[in-house]
Amino acid sequence: MATRLCWLGHACLLLESDGKHVLIDPFLTGNPAAATTADKVQADFILVSHGHGDHVGDTVAIAQRTGATVVCNYEMSGWFEKQGVKKVHGQQHGGGHHFPFGYVKLTLAFHGSMLPDGSYGGNPAGFLITFKDGTRIYDAADTGLFGDMQLIGAEGIDLATLPIGDNYTMGPDDALRAVKLIGPRQVVPIHYNTWELIAQDAAVWAERVRKETQSEAIVLKPGEWITIKA
Ligand code: NI
Ligand code: MN
Repeated sequence: MATRLCWLGHACLLLESDGKHVLIDPFLTGNPAAATTADKVQADFILVSHGHGDHVGDTVAIAQRTGATVVCNYEMSGWFEKQGVKKVHGQQHGGGHHFPFGYVKLTLAFHGSMLPDGSYGGNPAGFLITFKDGTRIYDAADTGLFGDMQLIGAEGIDLATLPIGDNYTMGPDDALRAVKLIGPRQVVPIHYNTWELIAQDAAVWAERVRKETQSEAIVLKPGEWITIKA
């Protein structure tokens, strides 16, 4: 019952564990790097880190098609209900909740969170997910570097997904510092190469991670799966 991760392009991740599909930040329509489409992707739960369009993406359409529960901060949960999403679960930073697939805690993220229609989206979050098989994943989502990543790392991270695109989030240098603070067993770069403004050479970054840390850096192609070492 291994836990698997697929990078679907940009910040969109699909996690599969014990037959459950957990989709994160499903920006597929309009995403030049999208590896699937909103009418095909599987989801039992959809986690949305913040209100920006490149993260909310197709959440409403996918939730309506699949009946998935949307998990996000309290402010956005009310907005999703107004958009017609039937099953919504609101949490807040530092708070965790047990779902059928595992435990999800919202973490800090230094970023913005305005929703696509200009509504207030609360504060942006990352996700610390502990699956039933014990696999623990930290998706930093959109954020700058912050020292408390060390506290998140102290929980013991099997795999971290970190933005490296720069401009809107950490760039390669700060993402490398983040790897040192978190100390994940494996790390996957995200939120780069979607557009020219966030173009980065992930292979070069991965080589720096290998040289300077104990973490295994894995560069995925959009649509590629990996099994996470628990
Ligand atoms: Ni954003
Ligand atoms: Mn973003």
